[in-house]
Amino acid sequence: MVNYKDLGLVNTRKMFKAAHEGKFAIPAYNFNNMEQLQAIILGCAESDSPVIIQVSKGARSYANQTLLRYMAEGAVAMVREMGAKIPITLHLDHGDSFELAKSCIDTGFSSVMIDGSHLSYEDNIALTRKVVEFAHDHDVTVEGELGVLAGIEDEVQSEHSHYTNPDEVEDFVSRTGVDSLAISIGTSHGAHKFKLKPGENPPPLRFDILEEIEKRIPLFPIVLHGASSVVPEYVDMINQYGGKLENAVGIPEDQLRRAAGSAVCKINIDSDGRLAMTAKIREAFMKSPGEFDPRKYLGPAREALKNLIIHKNRNVLGSAGHGHELV
Ligand code: G3H
Ligand code: 13P
Ligand code: ZN
Repeated sequence: MVNYKDLGLVNTRKMFKAAHEGKFAIPAYNFNNMEQLQAIILGCAESDSPVIIQVSKGARSYANQTLLRYMAEGAVAMVREMGAKIPITLHLDHGDSFELAKSCIDTGFSSVMIDGSHLSYEDNIALTRKVVEFAHDHDVTVEGELGVLAGIEDEVQSEHSHYTNPDEVEDFVSRTGVDSLAISIGTSHGAHKFKLKPGENPPPLRFDILEEIEKRIPLFPIVLHGASSVVPEYVDMINQYGGKLENAVGIPEDQLRRAAGSAVCKINIDSDGRLAMTAKIREAFMKSPGEFDPRKYLGPAREALKNLIIHKNRNVLGSAGHGHELV
């Protein structure tokens, strides 16, 4: 049993309180390898932002859960060595069982998501409650989910979204004891969030539902998954350098900025980072076909991801400048 506090990690409680009061959102970035983790940590250190680094099911099967948790410990050490003062949470993204959540907590994760959104309402409550009881005994915070996002929830495919029903949130939060709640108001996972006709804009997020939820559970931390903007600059670069990404569209940044100023305290971004790295790797392959040192293409990809993260923290989530306040 490893206590996350001994690793220098923090749970999300203080971060979410500050985010609420300061009308910004904490960024939650996914990582699967060293370059992604370096970019996230360096980008957040440079912009003085608190950060949640998160591990999905895909990441665990790609890189190994234990290795990822030791990498997180290394990230804390690196930040200290740099003299940067930012809080870091290691979070399980889309946990799907009690056993998985427990194994993460036992090995040093400071926050877990238990995603029972595909279960019946009562089964979701029972599973979430069980995880909360174990997690809170170890001062680990828990994110639950109500409502279903369209797209791919890890390996769970969902054709259609079911917006979160505001009538259920108060009951769900009080019966489970969760610390934050992921909701469905029109975001979705991946790089193809909407099917648009030429010239058409993405439909706005359902701020009316968010406002209803805020009325039912005032001051409660809300989480937005599927919040990549699918940055057109990187989609265009991918297509310019031999890729084929059609109809890739995401959530406009002004919508996310508005959400960050509300009860939304955590915003999940993964796809935008994937696009930035892929664009720079494709560019390097096209421009330097004789190059075969991975550092020559992973280096620029890491730099692009770092710059993307600084941009998100400063201009979209508003978390930049708040890191040192929370250490
Ligand atoms: O929620 C989905 C995240 O983007 C992680 O996806 O399981 O492919 O790593 P993944
Ligand atoms: P995106 O695919 O929009 O980046 O969402 C990521 C996410 O929600 C991870 O849990
Ligand atoms: Zn997600």
